[in-house]
Amino acid sequence: GGWLTARTVGAPAVAAAPTASVPLTILYGTESGNSEELAARTAKAAKGKGFKPTVKNMADLAPADLAKSERLLVIVSTWGDGEPPETAVSFYKSLMSEAVDLSKVSYSVCALGDTSYEQFCKTGRDVDARLAELGAKRIADRRDCDVDYEDLYTEWADAALSTLAPAQAATVSVAPVPTAIGSQFGKKNPFPAELLDKVLLNGKGTAKETWHYELSLEGSGLVYEPGDALAVLPVNAPDMVEGLLKAARLNGSETVELKGGEKKVLADALREDFEITTLSKAVLKKLHEVSPSKKLGALISDEGKEDLREYLWGRWIADAIAEFAPDGLSVEALAGIMRKLPPRLYSIASSPLEHPDEVHLTIASVRYDAHGSSRKGVASTYLADLIKKGDTVPVFTQTNKNFRLPESADTPIIMVGPGTGIAPFRSFIEHRAATGATGKNWLFFGDQRFTYDFLYQLEWQDHLKNGTLHKLDVAFSRDQPEKVYVQDRIRERASELFAWLEQGAHFYVCGDASRMAHDVHEALIEAVVSAGGRKRDEAEAYIEDLKKSKRYQRDVY
Ligand code: 2AM
Repeated sequence: GGWLTARTVGAPAVAAAPTASVPLTILYGTESGNSEELAARTAKAAKGKGFKPTVKNMADLAPADLAKSERLLVIVSTWGDGEPPETAVSFYKSLMSEAVDLSKVSYSVCALGDTSYEQFCKTGRDVDARLAELGAKRIADRRDCDVDYEDLYTEWADAALSTLAPAQAATVSVAPVPTAIGSQFGKKNPFPAELLDKVLLNGKGTAKETWHYELSLEGSGLVYEPGDALAVLPVNAPDMVEGLLKAARLNGSETVELKGGEKKVLADALREDFEITTLSKAVLKKLHEVSPSKKLGALISDEGKEDLREYLWGRWIADAIAEFAPDGLSVEALAGIMRKLPPRLYSIASSPLEHPDEVHLTIASVRYDAHGSSRKGVASTYLADLIKKGDTVPVFTQTNKNFRLPESADTPIIMVGPGTGIAPFRSFIEHRAATGATGKNWLFFGDQRFTYDFLYQLEWQDHLKNGTLHKLDVAFSRDQPEKVYVQDRIRERASELFAWLEQGAHFYVCGDASRMAHDVHEALIEAVVSAGGRKRDEAEAYIEDLKKSKRYQRDVY
């Protein structure tokens, strides 16, 4: 496939960069766009140092293509439970299994991940180890970055580039995070978006709590396309802050110093700056440093893996402090074990053409009971409980190039989006209606009960009537004794679905990654077997080809 060249934004880093002559390959594997953005930034910094960088996407190449690159920087994220990004799976599998001679390659890896997952930065770790195994020479240590990756990334890029640097290089350090093109607002400077409306989508009697939110982007300059996500920066609820203070035996009026040196009242910092609930191995390790105990030591040891998994489920940082630091913690110790509160990404549920200056979200509130008390998700309940109409929510948009409507308006699309997975498809259909796209649209939706949980039911009926939605198949799992899911509907519709695929349809899946996306994938393969008359391995290859040609796209979480 074609190489992407570095996307340069704004003016060059230095007025008179040295002659760009030393080739450098910057390879990224991205899910939500962060690795891609860092690759572009690294390329810009590399140019300033006299390199001639080429940015490449793992989606577009095979490991053998790397043999010729003498200098290689890799930026790759890990998704969910230790998975490579969707678009990098095939590259990753080949790299792990094929014998390629990379002895001419000097390289370094920057791994992106999330310490709240057990397999933190697994893809980056695997790639780093495998490149060495294939003979490549590691010229700078890998950095494993948590969600707040800025500092470690900068450290990595500076170290890697100066080790590789051509002798005549000018010194240019890695540029800071850019704001979204055309807007002063972005990750470093989120836009305060006014909440215009919030509507509970489930009817009385439901077991679910799914909200529709409408936010104003007026005056922000922020833009998005169907398939993109909105990042929300929540604050922690008062009861979460109180619970943590109680466990740490602090009263909240103490002063705490944040990473950048800013001083703040502790209770405010716990509300606004720290992730104070989500427990992870990383948090327990830091807790062990400030309050060592045999029991905690065992839990975070390699042998404690199973016990750790069980312990982490449904527990919060306050629970761990109460158990392993029963006398409480100093302000510094407490601040030291927590990470910065990360933004939460939600698939956008509106089309900017249908709702100019607005962005809509479909979010299920996370609430459950565990270990004798009620628990809740930070961002979903921040929006549900703490934000009312007229309040503002700090947001920025995040591009997702891996989830896009077909380029051609007459290409048919099949969308599978149970539960809140429906969000991007509301955006897709609105967009196709607004642009007068002629391609056929087929939606599979599922939820627990028809009466309460048919999200946006009236809108789908309107779209069916107006001819913007051509087929709708629903699976209400709890309306009958046997569970019925979207994948069952796919199986029932195998021959028509296969016919659509043969007509060039794109196939989209959004929603639960742990089970649904896997089960739908399986049903898709079976449809190609049963309706397409293919053998199992031929059907798998058929689906693999769909993926490669970007006709099978997933946004799963
Ligand atoms: P359940 O809650 O009755 O099990 C949206 O959450 C819908 O997805 C619900 O109807 C839920 O059903 C269903 N669901 C649960 N597990 C699923 C799976 N593995 N595949 C597809 N849908 C699933």
